[in-house]
Amino acid sequence: VLDRSFDTKEAAFSMKKRVGILTSGGDCPGLNATLRGVAKALYQRLGEDHVEIIGISNGYSGLINGDWRVMQPSEFSGILTVGGTILGTKRTPFKLMRVVGEDHIDKVEAMKKNYAEMKLDCLLCLGGNGTHKTANLLSEEGLNIIGLPKTIDNDIFGTDVTFGFHSAMEIATEAIDRVHTTAGSHSRCMVVELMGNKAGWLTLYAGIAGGADIILIPELPYSIENVCAAIEKRAAQGKRFSILAVAEGVYDVKEARMKKKERMAKRAEQGYTTATNRIAKEIEELTGIETRICVPGHMQRGGSPSPYDRVLATQFGSYAAKMVEDCNYGITVAMKNNHVGENKLKDIAGKSRLVPEGHGMLEVARRMGISVG
Ligand code: F6P
Repeated sequence: VLDRSFDTKEAAFSMKKRVGILTSGGDCPGLNATLRGVAKALYQRLGEDHVEIIGISNGYSGLINGDWRVMQPSEFSGILTVGGTILGTKRTPFKLMRVVGEDHIDKVEAMKKNYAEMKLDCLLCLGGNGTHKTANLLSEEGLNIIGLPKTIDNDIFGTDVTFGFHSAMEIATEAIDRVHTTAGSHSRCMVVELMGNKAGWLTLYAGIAGGADIILIPELPYSIENVCAAIEKRAAQGKRFSILAVAEGVYDVKEARMKKKERMAKRAEQGYTTATNRIAKEIEELTGIETRICVPGHMQRGGSPSPYDRVLATQFGSYAAKMVEDCNYGITVAMKNNHVGENKLKDIAGKSRLVPEGHGMLEVARRMGISVG
């Protein structure tokens, strides 16, 4: 009698879809909720016996180094409300992907080799702009890739919103709310430095939600004279304090003409480490009003996702699961005019969505008398 158990196991194995998943870049609320959305929808639709989810640790670093494990369905339970990522994450810069370093590892070849070794049908990459560039590179190299747009910066091209943004907005808004009392009690200016090196969405939205008097974003170089004029106008109206919501990546109109390196060197020479240091100092010098800086920093990326982000993560995750079912690869999930859909990775990779001059929300700010510098 022939022992067919091996054949049967092999056949069962080959019938299982093997779906790799990783989280890459800066963490944010909603990553776990998205992992859960993908997993639960896959198990629900295909059946737990027909899909195996392979969790890759620490983003592309785990894919390069073969750091992965088969996940159990139970691992995706109880994580809807949990911040961070159960897979771990890391920044592995796209520009270094083709560079062979001292470890002599050809990263792209290593990723392809590990993808093959894991016998993946496809790989889901949750991340921001950098993650999507590498996702596109892997797709061009022939791997079956699906992206999912994550970032508190909300700057991924082709999607109206990314998961993480709304949660961060709530935290940033609370920071602005809370400095109001000290600003009022001490008749001070408070400069709240919010995350966003290139994109000002978080600062613009949290600034409006928190009732900031001045909102400065990287897309609109400011003039300190305009900022001080806005503060003095308020003082003349008897308003003894002003709140500024400032994105970490802002620069003034003079700096706008400089290259990044030159700008940083100039700031260092003047003794400023950050834009907000300089803005606070200049406000004190030019207006005589005592000024303090508040930096919520990584708090903006921490904690439980907001209900909006939980819903969005579940919408995006379950949509990605459908893309797996349909074998629709080389794409990333997106929200377009309130509908979940997808974009081709090649159409969005390497582009960012910044706040355009004339954007409706900038107009709202201006109409409300908020100075944008
Ligand atoms: O891209 C998200 C982001 O939070 C930016 O807003 C911020 O500038 C950056 O990441 C901070 O990165 P890190 O956690 O590596 O300091």
